Amino acid sequence: MALFDASLISIESIECLPSGYKIRPIDKADFGAVEVLRVLTTVGDVTREAFEKVYESWVSHKDTYYVLVIENDIGDIVSVGSLIVEKKLIHNCGSIGHIEDIAVAKSEQGKKLGLTLIKTLTSISERLGCYKTILDCSENNIGFYEKCGFQKTGAMMTRRV
Ligand code: ACO
Repeated sequence: MALFDASLISIESIECLPSGYKIRPIDKADFGAVEVLRVLTTVGDVTREAFEKVYESWVSHKDTYYVLVIENDIGDIVSVGSLIVEKKLIHNCGSIGHIEDIAVAKSEQGKKLGLTLIKTLTSISERLGCYKTILDCSENNIGFYEKCGFQKTGAMMTRRV
């Protein structure tokens, strides 16, 4: 069962990719996405079985998880990113989109894959009717997100266990 309807991905997103590259919903077979996330943070020793369980949990939370991968021209997963849709009571029971866990493999950075990924996730958020799309990032990625059309607002607060 697909995580979400691929028709939510706009033609413009597909056209922005280098020749032979694909952008699509993540699939249960896409264990390679775990490796790509290592450029972002500590991933740990995630087994294929653990990955599949998380994938199934995403599928069971209908209309909530929109996780995209980009595949290169030889079929390797080279980028991954998530949109999580939160249904709220405020703003007339509106929804907001949270962009999370964005990663482009080191060898594929600088090819506008990150830009395409963020623009696609944002466009899905807007197509789903979210009244805003938000994300947290480090200071050194602010310039990247500004190029993706985001503005710095507010402050991020964290409490770690
Ligand atoms: N600061 C400023 N500008 C940047 C940065 C940066 N850190 N990274 C890229 N850019 C610029 C590029 O120069 C390019 O500018 P141009 O259009 O003028 O040429 C534009 O942003 C688009 O760059 P892309 O080629 O799309 O960037 P890339 O594919 O390399 O992806 C990303 C950027 C996602 C930050 C990638 O480098 C990466 O995976 N980094 C490690 C993991 C990470 O930091 N992920 C984001 C965490 S935040 C979160 O997950 C919500």
